[in-house]
Amino acid sequence: MSSTSKHPDVLKKLREEHNQVLGSDPAAAAEKLTKNPHLVNNLHYTLAVIKEVLRFFPPAGTTRAGKPGVSVTDDQSNSCPTDDAMLWILHVEMHHNAKSWVRSEELLPKRWLVGHEHELYPVPGAWRPFELGPRSCIGQAMVIVDLKLIMGCLARRLDVRPAYEGEEDEKRMYRGERAFQVEVGAAHPVEGYPCQITVV
Ligand code: HEM
Repeated sequence: MSSTSKHPDVLKKLREEHNQVLGSDPAAAAEKLTKNPHLVNNLHYTLAVIKEVLRFFPPAGTTRAGKPGVSVTDDQSNSCPTDDAMLWILHVEMHHNAKSWVRSEELLPKRWLVGHEHELYPVPGAWRPFELGPRSCIGQAMVIVDLKLIMGCLARRLDVRPAYEGEEDEKRMYRGERAFQVEVGAAHPVEGYPCQITVV
């Protein structure tokens, strides 16, 4: 396991789940999944990791057209007319808002595995990487399955570490991340996330 992983405990648990559900030989995982596709439904921790990473780094965004007579109200009850404005929904900010997320700056897959009585249980509607409502992402169910398959096949076989040039410099970081997100149409890791991948 990579000693440079930012969340070695999460990576360890993820790999343990893959060993349990997909068998101890990572090279055989793809064939096992092909023969038993329902196994993706047993990857509960993997799903929690995917959801928490999509909370931390929501890669997409969306806009809505404003209309005369339609206003939006903020959490201090200020009403803002939208008229001809273009409303850009800032998913990164919503997903890091401490009003909606307990321990918002911690990557905690556990919040997706606890019951509603737990303090980490997500506020309904606060997680919206695919947005909500009638225009929400039509690919979301498929992409979650894809991510589970890809992680199940690769998370035990590859170590990925950032390879940004130069010393770690706080001035080039945001919220403690060197690979912070920048908007390039949708959000991407800054400088395209130069990284080194090692086959384990
Ligand atoms: C992690 C991957 C993805 C993320 C985070 C994502 C996120 C989003 C978001 C935020 C929207 C805007 C929804 C809105 O405005 O209410 C959207 C729309 C859409 N997405 Fe995705 N998406 C992903 C992958 C995919 C994939 C794989 C497909 C197709 C196979 C897809 C197809 C679409 C389509 C067609 C729309 C437009 C829906 C509409 O306007 O009615 N997306 N997606």
